[in-house]
Amino acid sequence: MTKQGLKSRPAWQALVAHYADIKGEHMRDMFASDPGRFRHFSLQFEDIIFDYSKNRITKETLDLLIQLAEESDLIQRRAQMFAGEKINNTEGRAALHTALRNRSGEPVYVDGKDVMPEVLAELDHMREFTHEVRSGEWKGYSGKQITDVVNIGIGGSDLGARTACEALTPYTQPSLNTHFVSNVDGTQITEVLKQLDPQTCLFIIASKTFTTQETMTNAMTARKWFLAAAEDDSAVARHFVAVSTNTAAVETFGINPANMFRFWDWVGGRYSLWSVVGLPIALAVGMERFEEMLEGAHAMDQHFLNAPLNQNIPVIMAMLGIWYSNFFDAASHAVLPYDQYLDKLVDYLQQLDMESNGKSVTRDGQAVDYKTGPVIWGRAGTNGQHAFYQLIHQGTRLVPCDFIAPIKSQNPVGEHHKILLANYFAQTEALMKGRNEAEAREILQQADLNKNEIEERLPHVIFQGNRPSNSILFHKLTPRTLGALLALYEHKVFVQGVIWDVNSFDQWGVELGKQLAQNILPELEGGAEINSHDVSTNGLISYYKKVRKK
Ligand code: F6P
Repeated sequence: MTKQGLKSRPAWQALVAHYADIKGEHMRDMFASDPGRFRHFSLQFEDIIFDYSKNRITKETLDLLIQLAEESDLIQRRAQMFAGEKINNTEGRAALHTALRNRSGEPVYVDGKDVMPEVLAELDHMREFTHEVRSGEWKGYSGKQITDVVNIGIGGSDLGARTACEALTPYTQPSLNTHFVSNVDGTQITEVLKQLDPQTCLFIIASKTFTTQETMTNAMTARKWFLAAAEDDSAVARHFVAVSTNTAAVETFGINPANMFRFWDWVGGRYSLWSVVGLPIALAVGMERFEEMLEGAHAMDQHFLNAPLNQNIPVIMAMLGIWYSNFFDAASHAVLPYDQYLDKLVDYLQQLDMESNGKSVTRDGQAVDYKTGPVIWGRAGTNGQHAFYQLIHQGTRLVPCDFIAPIKSQNPVGEHHKILLANYFAQTEALMKGRNEAEAREILQQADLNKNEIEERLPHVIFQGNRPSNSILFHKLTPRTLGALLALYEHKVFVQGVIWDVNSFDQWGVELGKQLAQNILPELEGGAEINSHDVSTNGLISYYKKVRKK
């Protein structure tokens, strides 16, 4: 498919015309004219309700968006992904995270080889190890059991496990603390190490490549800190394990291959939490709960594979995103979880979505002539309400939002959850309805204001409304629901990548900065002035060196 492909598809062109018809319509009127709108535009998957009725769509919009998905070969591309075809064409790899949570007993082939025996063997390895550590059978070098697990990894080797560990806090074993170190800023590891006893901590060095500068630097620092206390290299085996695809590099680092948990190049970093990269999750909540997460994700995979496109939650979410990005020119998308345990979800989705679809050439290398992945941002409610919702309600930019909430709190304290959910419901209503001039005037008239004051204040208290949102409401944040939710977003990102015809599984855009940092690092030695860059970079480096010397 060339760059002309997307915009010349019949459904795209029909959507252009349809957008012109519909862009002036207000959702208030759409609700007023269709009392069944909630029923028509909501879906249920297990305990998850997905309400997309507060979007600027009609039945025709949805039909055209689904037609666009079909014209973009979504069905074939989806089949290729699940079948292990090398859809990551720039790296010559499959993208088979779905095999990691394949609970069907069916084989999955890559290059003619069934990968399921290896997947299941690694799960067994995780199960044994997790049991040993959690039960206290696994002892540190001085004979004490492990009390603290430290995951050292970054990006996909950090964010998924970190998000899930925090999300599943109520299911964790209190005697085992989990910590995450990702940033190469020495502050992070210093602050974590301060809390630890070398005799009782276990480091997981998680890196697909086992070459990532940040992770290797943190791992070396942890090792040095550990050996300063243990004073014996052989103690490393009881306190360091590796999660990687690179056996040779793990051995070179000094980790016994018996303490290595393996995954494969057909697992993308940001899609890897279902693999042994999920080891911190399994240690925190137990292998059974980790497998419940896999089951939730597998069930979502089945929904994505089998539900008709117009009843398929990830497909609809994705196509709504296309509608706003490409027709309404929305540049960002907010994720707003009304569950404190999902506070890290936004960080995780930023990598998932922006590293996958932040591309400007098609799979064939042609420059696109349409917008691709949006900026993903947000924060747990209600904190976001008191920070940036002002812009979402009254700013000049359209920000489609996902509002996510559990019906039951894991911590039912007093009225907290009711208050939280009242805010959750209220925000989507306010965004959709807004407050028109007549309503605003009436409110001002009730306040003790004179005529002039009312006229002055009026423009400031009008809300245009017509701001779109999805509501995702589920019973409780269980491991299964979390698995389904994360897989839902993975598939949404995949579908959008198919429509935009980008490779959602590579990440060449992170390379340039990495390479330049490698060039600059040796230049930071000594006092010599630096002239090898542009004048800004030269000036900054030279200033840094001068001030450092003082
Ligand atoms: O940021 C680039 C990246 O390659 C991510 O895609 C990846 O998740 C992260 O670095 C960490 O990579 P690794 O697991 O190989 O250390």
